[in-house]
Amino acid sequence: MEAIQSVRLDDENSCLVLLDQTLLPNEKVFFRLSTVEEIWEAIYHLKVRGAPAIGIAAAYGVYLGVKKSEAASFAELSEEFAKVKQYLASSRPTAVNLFWALQRMEDRLKAEADQTVDDIKQAMKEEAEAIRAEDEKVCLAIGEHALSLLEPGWGLLTHCNAGTIATAKYGTALAPMYLGQERGYDFRVYADETRPLLQGARLTAWELQEAGVDVTLICDNMASIVMQEGKVQAVLVGCDRVAANGDTANKIGTSGLAILAKHYGIPFYVCAPTSTIDLNCATGADIPIEVRKSEEITTQWYEQPMAPPNIKTYNPAFDITDHSLVTAIITEKGIIREVTGTARFLSNH
Ligand code: MRU
Repeated sequence: MEAIQSVRLDDENSCLVLLDQTLLPNEKVFFRLSTVEEIWEAIYHLKVRGAPAIGIAAAYGVYLGVKKSEAASFAELSEEFAKVKQYLASSRPTAVNLFWALQRMEDRLKAEADQTVDDIKQAMKEEAEAIRAEDEKVCLAIGEHALSLLEPGWGLLTHCNAGTIATAKYGTALAPMYLGQERGYDFRVYADETRPLLQGARLTAWELQEAGVDVTLICDNMASIVMQEGKVQAVLVGCDRVAANGDTANKIGTSGLAILAKHYGIPFYVCAPTSTIDLNCATGADIPIEVRKSEEITTQWYEQPMAPPNIKTYNPAFDITDHSLVTAIITEKGIIREVTGTARFLSNH
């Protein structure tokens, strides 16, 4: 499948090349970032977004930060590394892939302690490239496992954007849609617009339409009627963090969809790489939820304000779906049907 590369390293020019996701679908602009501060800002402002893509961008950010270091020893380099890691980790709180990727970079740094500074820098580049390359394979495997649960002609509903641009290539929840498209499954996909930042309308609807998938955009509050009318045979969503008990954090509105799906007897599938499972969080209550600024609700997407000035707002960017509402979690290593057993699944695979 052809895919846009939303995050890529241009090592020759020591920069990260990102597709600015805030400008889609109207403009397809790639821009170059060479400082860790610029990368932090791109993650914070959702120019790069989606759990795996954030992790990949942060890994490259660490490499670029370390690359320009003038440290003369491992100890000096480690000190600088720690600052960059801590700084990038403060960009967004919910997607564990960010912390996972940063930790993986640190583990590699420590494993190279006996090497020269130049060799360590090279190892940082290799590790970041490996994180990106592995994500491609992982998402393809998620797509294959997810497709095994779906039947040709089905209507599928998705929320937010868990597609190509949120990952290295295939997406997570959208991966089976792409594979199904190649294999003649003729899925009909319903994309929730995903208030307030419209990732469904701006990104998912655009991505799937570009790929020739039959996609219909609906407002978030229309999910119930399309389910009631029998148009949806499965819900597929991505994920930012899975707790040990199978509770999952994803874009705000996901838990409401899961409740609706249960009501209508529709399977609710969460697609997530195993790197999204965080056994340090016993339940969803331990997952930090990002709360973002009011303007995203009141003014950001409008020519004129759509709410009274100084209105009180509450803008959580994610919610927790209780494990009891999740039919299965689909990972690259297989399908977790007993979602409370994430730790057992990980230790067996
Ligand atoms: O705030 P965002 O746009 O980064 O939120 C993204 C999501 O909620 C996605 O569903 C999730 O990160 C999975 S991306 C494969």
